[in-house]
Amino acid sequence: MPFDIARTRAAYPALTEGFAHFDGAGGTQTPQSVVDAVADAMRAALGNRSTAFAPGRRSLELVAAARTAVADLLGATAQGVVLGPSATALTYTLARALGATWRPGDDVVVSRLDHDANVRPWVQAAEAAGATVRWAEFDPATGELPAGQYAELVGERTRLVAVTAGSNAIGTVPDVATIAKIAHAAGALVCVDGVHSVPHGPTDLASLGADFLVTSAYKWSGPHLAAMVADPARWEPLRPAKLLPSSDAVPDRFEAGTPSFPLLAGVAAAVDHLAGLDPTATGDRRQRVRAGLAAAQAYEESLFDRLLAGLAAHPAVTVYGAAARRCPTVSFRLAGWSPAGLAAALGEAGLCLSSGDYYAYEYFRTMGLRDSGGAVRASVYHYNTADEVDRLLAELDRLARRRETMAG
Ligand SMILES: Cc1ncc(COP(=O)(O)O)c(C=O)c1O
Repeated sequence: MPFDIARTRAAYPALTEGFAHFDGAGGTQTPQSVVDAVADAMRAALGNRSTAFAPGRRSLELVAAARTAVADLLGATAQGVVLGPSATALTYTLARALGATWRPGDDVVVSRLDHDANVRPWVQAAEAAGATVRWAEFDPATGELPAGQYAELVGERTRLVAVTAGSNAIGTVPDVATIAKIAHAAGALVCVDGVHSVPHGPTDLASLGADFLVTSAYKWSGPHLAAMVADPARWEPLRPAKLLPSSDAVPDRFEAGTPSFPLLAGVAAAVDHLAGLDPTATGDRRQRVRAGLAAAQAYEESLFDRLLAGLAAHPAVTVYGAAARRCPTVSFRLAGWSPAGLAAALGEAGLCLSSGDYYAYEYFRTMGLRDSGGAVRASVYHYNTADEVDRLLAELDRLARRRETMAG
């Protein structure tokens, strides 16, 4: 059955404003069901977590429901879902806790394809422990992150390999399962950044081979919250900095302070939204979320092919990256335009695209593009349309000629 784009778009009230959102990689729009879940939780009597009174029990239930929903999304166990304000904050929490177990002479492996949120926390934790940092390099021509290099990078003192499941700059989907096998054979742990990949297809913690996997709900129609998931046994030996009276249990031990209970209601509602993307899907929520994301993935890929073909056909456009497996995300430049100037001109036409390095710091630095403004990024999400893609391509063509006219 074809993806029902009219039904999908109708779920998002913000789309009536008419913008074309090619900035899902920076954050998606919010379905009405998520807005309602957050508002309902705020409207209801709500207390801080307590078993003593009903409003306190509601907060306990909201936390538990968010953990179960994220577990369904990723194929994880609810007891291993640590919730937090952002992927960056959660990765720092994990890096500090793991880093406290490292010794001088240990090493960690990070990649130059990753968002800085899965690089700098590890680099800084390694520095604090006197451990060595090893770098996995991407191929500048294709944007691939060859898995074979990890056999050289990982050794018997490697404690951790941090790698992305999808580049937020150029979409590359590395062979994480092979990288994880190499890491595990040497006894190292694997932390996978799923922030960019999770919204674009079914994800399974075990098939990735991830010991830790992080995702941010605001990239998949949810509120600005995130989760780091692992087998509870992986969390058990770790001792994060925490307050004395706060819970010492897993996963609560890793969650500092009082969470936003209403936004957690939004996290669960966002997973339900993803589980409803294929209305023909049956089974439990895990099965339906996989089906929903698989349907969205096929749809997004068809739009992305159209976008890539249009960009490739334009003589004034330079596209970065050409990985075989990729999320529907592309960075490019238009001759005669700075990335920031181009994004602003597109913005005037109601086309929302990010420019700069989007914190894919090492990628743009290695490519020699960072100091001159990075690139412009178009990222396709399940509410985009073929008409929007055509609108973007037509506007790029118009802007290419406008600048050429001005120059000539
Ligand atoms: C691939 C990737 N990793 C990590 C992050 C950081 O996520 P957060 O904003 O939740 O810290 C982002 C945000 O854009 C991202 O795209």
